Amino acid sequence: MSLVFLLVLVGVTFPLPGVQALVCQLGTAKGVWNVSDLPLSWTPKETTCTSGWGCQDTLVFIESGPKVSMVLSKGCTQAGDQEPRVTEHRMGPGLSMTSYTHVCRQGDRCNNLVTSAPLWASPRPADPGSLRCPVCLSPEVCLESTEEICPRGSTDCYDGLLRLTGGGISSNLRVQGCMTQPGCNLLNGTREVGPLSMTETCFLTCYRGIFIQSRENLSQEPTEWTAAATETCEAGQVCQETLLLVDIGFTSTLVGSKRCSAVGAKDSQTNSIHSRPPGVLVASYSHFCASNLCNGADSSRVLLNSLPPQAAPVPGNRQCPACLQPFGSCSSDSPKMTCPRGADHCYDGYIRLSGGGLTTTMSIQGCVAQPGFLLNHTRQIGIFSVREKDDVQLPVPEPQGGGAGSLESLTWGLGLALALVLWWGTLCPSC
Ligand SMILES: *[C@@H]1O[C@H](CO)[C@@H](O)[C@H](O)[C@H]1NC(C)=O
Ligand SMILES: *[C@@H]1O[C@H](CO)[C@@H](O)[C@H](O)[C@H]1NC(C)=O
Ligand SMILES: *[C@@H]1O[C@H](CO)[C@@H](O)[C@H](O)[C@H]1NC(C)=O
Ligand SMILES: *[C@@H]1O[C@H](CO)[C@@H](O)[C@H](O)[C@H]1NC(C)=O
Repeated sequence: MSLVFLLVLVGVTFPLPGVQALVCQLGTAKGVWNVSDLPLSWTPKETTCTSGWGCQDTLVFIESGPKVSMVLSKGCTQAGDQEPRVTEHRMGPGLSMTSYTHVCRQGDRCNNLVTSAPLWASPRPADPGSLRCPVCLSPEVCLESTEEICPRGSTDCYDGLLRLTGGGISSNLRVQGCMTQPGCNLLNGTREVGPLSMTETCFLTCYRGIFIQSRENLSQEPTEWTAAATETCEAGQVCQETLLLVDIGFTSTLVGSKRCSAVGAKDSQTNSIHSRPPGVLVASYSHFCASNLCNGADSSRVLLNSLPPQAAPVPGNRQCPACLQPFGSCSSDSPKMTCPRGADHCYDGYIRLSGGGLTTTMSIQGCVAQPGFLLNHTRQIGIFSVREKDDVQLPVPEPQGGGAGSLESLTWGLGLALALVLWWGTLCPSC
């Protein structure tokens, strides 16, 4: 890869007659280098600023393993003067981000930084830890991220996309590496550096699996709920886990899904009892979260713990057909059960459920205390879009999320808005 830089003229202005105007160094540059290629130096162009404006230098370094990304913007600015400042936005071990900012008016070409040498020192070799992470730094996609041993002190793998815009720069940077904390926070709260604004979106890893179990007593006895598989989500998606329990008395069903999700607020957990005993119990647990493998509940306890204690039901006088079919229909002559006292109505319906990798119609017959709906018109339970028989109030929302989408929504714009390319400059490690 050659070290040729695109230097872009970000603006040409002419001084008003008789008004003092500064000449500033001008140029932008961005790229990814081997750490061993540094320090870099460059040959800036010049421009005459609007009177009253100052000269600025902005430089951002992001380092991951053996690679370092640098973004440089030099030119005129309306911002107030600022002494040269080096800021460590995120310290290592692992991924780090450092910036240099300077705004001056004391003379022509006072934004005279022409080398990265004073700002960037080769990192000291770090003690290896036990964590391994994919490591990559690339302006496009991470085609071949290598898995590397993280330095000691790293606790999490980071996988994100940084977007830097402003000051003549428009840059996307794909970043993978080792971090000392979970979550999508490489920028550590930084939103702006000089004229550059920065945003980050992350690609989480989530557990992925579907869980269905039918037997007696699932509302009393916790059962294991794990997923061995994992998946990488699309940018901006979160992890989710959803568990739905239906208990008609002598049998019960648990339906669960763990995977990436586009729906749901970040870091929310909801326990709901949709239909209470006496009679059919319908309850759910859902959890949306935004750190790697955070959808890792390993037992149905997360749902059962929120249920009120259930006394042994006292038999009543009514009898109802009783049936629970997670994937199908109940016949019209199901065996009858004696209803618990207080549940004197027969329910015969179904819940259509879709989302989270599952589409099914769960048929339910049993005793209920009130005639009507089990779900009280609820349309979304965690990742599941649900619709109950005869509940036709609203159009059913399309099933969402599920990580089945494509990566095409991610486009890496490469600064096409910068139409004023007036020359090519070169930037070389040692000239
Ligand atoms: C970075 O270093 C590796 C090996 O050290 C080399 O294969 C690769 O070409 C270098 N890349 C650049 C952009 O210099
Ligand atoms: C995050 O930024 C704060 C100041 O804003 C700094 O004190 C802290 O050390 C930074 N954290 C890391 C890990 O660099
Ligand atoms: C159901 O669970 C309860 C509480 O753990 C227990 O007392 C009862 O014996 C169980 N019933 C059956 C049929 O396993
Ligand atoms: C059903 O939902 C409505 C509106 O969301 C709520 O006011 C009502 O209390 C709910 N009924 C039950 C039995 O939960």
